[in-house]
Amino acid sequence: MNRRVFLKLTGLTGLGFYVGELLPLTGCSGTLYLEGSLDPTDPNSFTRPLALPGQDGLLGFLTPSAPLEASATEASVTLMEGHSTQVWAYAVNTNGRSYLNPTFYVRQGDTFDLTLINALGSPTIIHWHGLDVDWQQDGNPSYAVASGERYAYRLTVKNRGGTYWYHPHPHQALAEQAYRGLAGLMLVEDDDELALRAALDLSPGTTDIPLLLQDKRLDTDMQLAYSPSGMESFDGYLGNLALVNLTINPKLDVSTRLYRFRLLNGANARILRLAFTQNDETLPFLIIGTDGGLLEKAQEAEEVFLSPGERVDVLLDLSTHAVGDVLFLRTLAFEPMDTMHMGMREASTSPSATQPGQSSPATSTPQQETSARTSTSSSSIAQGSPFYLLKLTVTEAIAYSKTAPDVLSSIDRIDTSGATVRPITLSSSPSDMMAFAINGQTYDMNAYPIEVLRGTVEIWEVTNQVGDDISSMPHPLHIHGALFQVQKRSGSPAQILAQGVDEAGRLATDLGWKDTILIWPGETVRLAMDFRDAYPGEQRLLIHCHNLEHEEAGMMINYRISG
Ligand code: C2O
Ligand code: CU
Ligand code: CU
Repeated sequence: MNRRVFLKLTGLTGLGFYVGELLPLTGCSGTLYLEGSLDPTDPNSFTRPLALPGQDGLLGFLTPSAPLEASATEASVTLMEGHSTQVWAYAVNTNGRSYLNPTFYVRQGDTFDLTLINALGSPTIIHWHGLDVDWQQDGNPSYAVASGERYAYRLTVKNRGGTYWYHPHPHQALAEQAYRGLAGLMLVEDDDELALRAALDLSPGTTDIPLLLQDKRLDTDMQLAYSPSGMESFDGYLGNLALVNLTINPKLDVSTRLYRFRLLNGANARILRLAFTQNDETLPFLIIGTDGGLLEKAQEAEEVFLSPGERVDVLLDLSTHAVGDVLFLRTLAFEPMDTMHMGMREASTSPSATQPGQSSPATSTPQQETSARTSTSSSSIAQGSPFYLLKLTVTEAIAYSKTAPDVLSSIDRIDTSGATVRPITLSSSPSDMMAFAINGQTYDMNAYPIEVLRGTVEIWEVTNQVGDDISSMPHPLHIHGALFQVQKRSGSPAQILAQGVDEAGRLATDLGWKDTILIWPGETVRLAMDFRDAYPGEQRLLIHCHNLEHEEAGMMINYRISG
């Protein structure tokens, strides 16, 4: 039976924000395509083979051997069989191979030489998310190049081994450009990475698999619909389709051994509470790495929050599983803590929906909670609603008995004794009802509200403010130019407290180097910031929310390192 439903979307233009600017594509009908085989809450619809990075093509592995040119351009992909969908992607041709959004594979210490060619109709620039580079290589919005122009990057990869990524960063067009497809990974290799690969017999693209997690919407022409209403600009743009490596409702055949998954939340606004399940029971896995590479020791977990911009590296051991076992990677229900919608949700949901402050049982199935789907908008799955992401079927039994090494890496703790504590607040904007602010300010390209002295260490104490008169939401805060260490979390809501691993209230993912951190309403996090190795000259960098609609609406400020 074809459960095709055409959904007329009302209130598309909402309060009228950004209209025209955010609707450059003609033929965007505003009518959404919904069909059974695309429903991420239906486990039976996970039938499309997961796109894996190969030696070319979409997300293909590319180890640069010469300077590269990457053209940001329109491209055609098949998201739904029998249809082609226009996306925007980075096209690279080198050594007789063509790539779309290549997965760059580089070694720590390598020089990376790439020229961006803007073949889009609007300005763009590439940001290397998490890479420790001079600010002129960082894709600052002030360096965006016009259509037809180029920008040359030449950088040395200083980062630890790990999973980094890249995406556009032009002023007030990042959200749409990333949503339309411009995003890729950069995997950095170092000695710790090589040791782990050898110890576990991992091979990239087969048993060490990057998973780019996104949610999107398609219109009835099978084209990507990006048309946030005023409310969606405020909350973040959520989709009703689950995509992994740009495959909708994917499946992957696996064997009885250990797998490494490098999970990247590349969604605009969707927060994920990730778990692996079998028969609706969560399975244990190991968290081995975060934004800035491997942890010192693997952390046992059964779930992990992953917000837009963040990465988490995990090991899933399937060696005790049997051929025929079916598992899912999925996002579990959670309390979205969005005060703006709290009233709406209470008024419109059935008793099965989660109540504020309470996390729902890990085993609740997406079907039990589909009522929450409509609480934000009928065209998207509400923030915090459960759905599946990837089906894993064990199809082959092999002999495998390797286990993760006790020590994965070493992390030098930043010594913050005597460091200046810099308070930073996240709140609704005092001047713009429909925007969030950092230290009460929204983005001004020419203002530097935070000035840092080169050679210093600081503690950034970031508070996500709540109050009666202000709206609050969780914010994935991202800092350019300096990876940080999380020292402490306080004021955490129940669903975060429950996952704490130490006295400081930290989560397993707080134990590694980070560049993006999800901060829940009421929470304060202390971040150790090290500016002792800052690049020479004045460094102009960004702090922003990685909910890309928040960033677009101005939840971003500059900071400057000088002296
Ligand atoms: Cu991933 Cu400034 O962004
Ligand atoms: Cu970044
Ligand atoms: Cu935000």
